[in-house]
Amino acid sequence: MEYAGLSHEEMATLQSGGSLSIDQADRMIENVVGVYGLPLGIATNFLLNGRDYLIPMVVEEPSVVAGLSYAARLVRQGGGFQTSSDEPVMIGQMQVLDVPDPAAARLRLLAAKEELLTFANQLDPIIVRLGGGARDIQVRLMDDSPVGPMLVVHLLYDVRDAMGANAVNTAAEALSPLVESLTGGRVGLRILSNLADHRLARAQGVVPAEALALEGLTPQEGVQRLLEAYAFAAVDPYRAATHNKGIMNGIDAVVIATGNDWRAIEAGAHTYAARSGTYRPLTAWERNANGDLVGSIELPLAVGTVGGATRVHPQAQVALKILGVSGARELAQVMAAVGLAQNLAALRALAMEGIQRGHMQLHARQVAMAAGASGDMVERVAARLVEEKVVRVDRAEAILAELRAQGS
Ligand code: MEV
Repeated sequence: MEYAGLSHEEMATLQSGGSLSIDQADRMIENVVGVYGLPLGIATNFLLNGRDYLIPMVVEEPSVVAGLSYAARLVRQGGGFQTSSDEPVMIGQMQVLDVPDPAAARLRLLAAKEELLTFANQLDPIIVRLGGGARDIQVRLMDDSPVGPMLVVHLLYDVRDAMGANAVNTAAEALSPLVESLTGGRVGLRILSNLADHRLARAQGVVPAEALALEGLTPQEGVQRLLEAYAFAAVDPYRAATHNKGIMNGIDAVVIATGNDWRAIEAGAHTYAARSGTYRPLTAWERNANGDLVGSIELPLAVGTVGGATRVHPQAQVALKILGVSGARELAQVMAAVGLAQNLAALRALAMEGIQRGHMQLHARQVAMAAGASGDMVERVAARLVEEKVVRVDRAEAILAELRAQGS
């Protein structure tokens, strides 16, 4: 932990007993009866825009952290990840009902844009001082809905280093009376959209073909296997769902480690994947002019480094320190790279060796624990399960009973 410059206290925070206290938990949600633990691991080998990163990940699934570290090493061999991200602009939605003349009302709203933005910018002087605040007004006319026509007003609001739900919800609520007087309608819902498509993050990376000369394949065969695996997701939503799930294995783990809202990120990612009307993979894999594999990813990533659980949760603060990001935009870029690498890890394993082989050892340990093994018995039972190629709890229980009988 020297690399991340952690103090003894911060180190202790990462270890057992240093996590969220019951008092802190009690202030976060209602009816608290306990604190629920999950493993926190660190993925390595990440080179991003020329800088090294350690990636804290909170996840219960075996192979995710190891797979990510392995894939990051492959991309490192091609020069690492290049990333970018948009300004942190969120969408606050206002639903306007009972508008007598919706088409004309839309134009009245657009004509009053400056007035609306100026009003919104008076609400939170701090965010404006930091360089954020209201940026634009967009108005969409829904000709029909189950309750007739409606106008949907979008307030685009730069939330700087926050996830921004509070800031944008507050602004949407405050703007509503003005929207009502301009439209002659009635504002119904006022809430952010999780399809944060003004807040996209992107990553790309090259894997040299030679690095894919695995499992007895030539470099070009290795690249071809990966392209075929991607092609499956590109044409089939059933496969794309699983492909994207693997991407989110990595992204969610960092989202959770940093105290961010993983449901918001999930909602945005999957809606963005379906934006064309067909559910599509969030990554693309191609062969470049040199014959190497090149991957790219783009998705909305509304995450913050200030506010919410990022500041309340002691381990989230340490996770942010380990990452060493300057703010929300850089954090989103790291997450995009993680998503791309996690996808590479999965496709590599699936296309070359089948997922079960790599999973088996780690899975066997979980099964051994589920069967009641503890201490060094976990490894002993797991080793037997792998040897027998039967990774099942009933078998683990039988092996455990056998080993205990031998011991006593
Ligand atoms: C398992 O959690 C994730 C994978 O299914 C992803 C994929 O199939 O691409 C391995």
